[in-house]
Amino acid sequence: MTVPALLSGGSGRPEAWPASCETGYAPMPVICFETEAGSLLGQVDGLPGDTLIDLARLHEIPLHWRCGQGTCGTCRLHLKHNRQPCLIHLSRKERSVLLREACLSPEEAACDVLTDQPGLWRLACHCVVNEDDLTVIVPAPDA
Ligand code: FES
Repeated sequence: MTVPALLSGGSGRPEAWPASCETGYAPMPVICFETEAGSLLGQVDGLPGDTLIDLARLHEIPLHWRCGQGTCGTCRLHLKHNRQPCLIHLSRKERSVLLREACLSPEEAACDVLTDQPGLWRLACHCVVNEDDLTVIVPAPDA
């Protein structure tokens, strides 16, 4: 199989992706991990289906986590992307953990669908990368 000539610039990312791509390849989303103060912790290429905690662990991003299974709540973070605000479905398990951590109100935790906006807490264990570039705001460990 031939790697498409669109990959260039040494980063493995396309310089410009054509509107009608006949290769079947989708561009890889760029995931930027930042502190709350805006300092860059790391920038990685994701693949749709990756979880944020797996990307952070693989690339040694200093994201505080404990269980790695979506139950302890220590991997909470905020996300920013170009489609916000939009509606998002959060699993019952993620809402339950965020409620326990006082990151969602009881009313929010009772809703299947919430507004995805930069102030919404998420859990890195539950966040799956899609085709969108993301900025991940990593709080200080004691936040
Ligand atoms: S590490 Fe425990 S919920 Fe993500």
